[in-house]
Amino acid sequence: MSQSSPGIKVKRNKGEQFRKALAELGTLDRCRKIASDVAYVYLPVLRELVEEKRLMEISDYEMVEMEFKPEPPVTTPESILGYQPSFEVVGDIAIVEQENARLVASALMSSCQNLRSVITPVSDVEGEFRTRRFRHVAGEERTITVHKEHGLRYWVDLEGAYFTPRLGTERLRIARQVSPGDFVLDMFAGVGPFALLLARRGARVVAIDKNPVAVKYLRENAILNKIDLEILEGDASDLARNYENTADHVIMNLPHNAHQFLIPAIQAAKNGGVVHYYAISQDDDLYKDLDLIEAAAFQLGVMIEALYKGVVRSYAPHRYNVVMDFRINKPS
Ligand SMILES: C[S@@+](CC[C@H](N)C(=O)[O-])C[C@H]1O[C@@H](n2cnc3c(N)ncnc32)[C@H](O)[C@@H]1O
Repeated sequence: MSQSSPGIKVKRNKGEQFRKALAELGTLDRCRKIASDVAYVYLPVLRELVEEKRLMEISDYEMVEMEFKPEPPVTTPESILGYQPSFEVVGDIAIVEQENARLVASALMSSCQNLRSVITPVSDVEGEFRTRRFRHVAGEERTITVHKEHGLRYWVDLEGAYFTPRLGTERLRIARQVSPGDFVLDMFAGVGPFALLLARRGARVVAIDKNPVAVKYLRENAILNKIDLEILEGDASDLARNYENTADHVIMNLPHNAHQFLIPAIQAAKNGGVVHYYAISQDDDLYKDLDLIEAAAFQLGVMIEALYKGVVRSYAPHRYNVVMDFRINKPS
């Protein structure tokens, strides 16, 4: 007997964007087939995982209940476990939560052909370099892998340097604003997912990171993808001073501490340049950092023009990773 299940209805021209975002958020119901008619695409979803704010940023959509045809039966982690486990995949490594880690790992290893290793975090993302420690759960014992994103490949050491695939859609949003020939200063570049993507678009990129491990992988990733950019190891507040009034775009992806670097970032932007500022905030005051941005601009005697603000992803209960893009207007 057929049964209706939740889905979202989007205009055809937005279908692929939604499919990718849902897949990235782990919200796409892979056991059911995507449907379409002349005007709309209907994507089956796992309702409890739908992040409304995140999807609304793509465009309007409608929640529907309908009969989606089942995908041919395949063994999924859900079919083995009886529930949808939460996990993240980086390259051929799955990161699972500590609870039931062994059970989930065994379900993943037997249903996901491309996985070679399963690990679980034993610390938060912590310290200046924003790294995590992991415990090996199943498969090969390693935290190093190659992850593919937007046609680029990245060597990643999950324990040695920060990386998350959950910013993939956000990186594309930034890339669409960058033109060939623009000068981009990526102040907190990690292993390079913003920097390399923007350099591939034809921007001249200077990528900074203080973590030597991140810089080592960033250099390897530039070679692996045959992309030319300048890579600097050191403190962004010191190094950014060498680029005053030059940057078309400044990327500030250090969400917990970006406010401490606002002065050098604004100084690095040229007149008309845009700063892309990330923060973590509570849901009752998502864009509170706008006050800090205004204060830094006032201190430097420049004007800022807010261009965009949005939620990038949920971070923890009631806490979100948000972005604010603002243009710098400097007196001549
Ligand atoms: C949240 S991660 C972002 C990495 C990368 N942009 C990405 O999307 O994967 C922040 C990065 O900033 C680096 N970092 C922290 N403090 C820094 C500083 N004072 N100067 C330069 N880099 C710093 C960390 O080592 C880390 O790689």
